[in-house]
Amino acid sequence: MTGYLFVPAVPADVDQLAALEISLFKTDRCSKKSFRYLIRRAHVLVVKRQDSAEILGYAILLGRKNSRKMRIYSFGITATARGEGLAGKLLEVLERISRDSKCTMLTLEVSDSNIAALGLYKKHGFAQYGFRLGYYEDGGHAILMRKTLD
Ligand SMILES: CC(C)(COP(=O)(O)OP(=O)(O)OC[C@H]1O[C@@H](n2cnc3c(N)ncnc32)[C@H](O)[C@@H]1OP(=O)(O)O)[C@@H](O)C(=O)NCCC(=O)NCCS
Repeated sequence: MTGYLFVPAVPADVDQLAALEISLFKTDRCSKKSFRYLIRRAHVLVVKRQDSAEILGYAILLGRKNSRKMRIYSFGITATARGEGLAGKLLEVLERISRDSKCTMLTLEVSDSNIAALGLYKKHGFAQYGFRLGYYEDGGHAILMRKTLD
């Protein structure tokens, strides 16, 4: 995908990330403090156009020591940039980082009412392996998905 950058977030991105989070999610939001911590300790990726500082999307990927699993903790594309394949490309980048970390499985949770995200993850080879009733702060239910990496 030409014209776009998929790069690690830096501390200067935190204000934009927090604003994007508010626009994307009504519940279970990541705070500025959490973004600051995760930028140092996890993989936080941002999507930008090559000629702009605006953050169009982001993803948080968590790993654990001595584990071959990584978890997509948060993921989103701003409303005005959707439908252009940015989420699909961002997922590919997360998969590449996971493989480079010798990881063999990616996991995530997604709201059972989130049709767009469920479509995205299924298209990219994720399959349901569980369900959590009342998982979200607003009482919403989560579908647990995973993908085995070859
Ligand atoms: C889900 C989301 C990340 C998709 O971003 P996007 O950049 O528009 O997605 P893409 O253009 O890469 O689409 C890839 C695939 O996702 C699926 N998809 C995307 N939007 C969809 C929609 N509205 N309805 C159904 N499927 C959809 C399709 O399978 C699509 O493939 P296709 O274009 O060949 O049909 C975006 O809608 C979003 O950020 N939503 C709010 C935050 C969120 O829900 N994050 C996920 C939390 S788990």
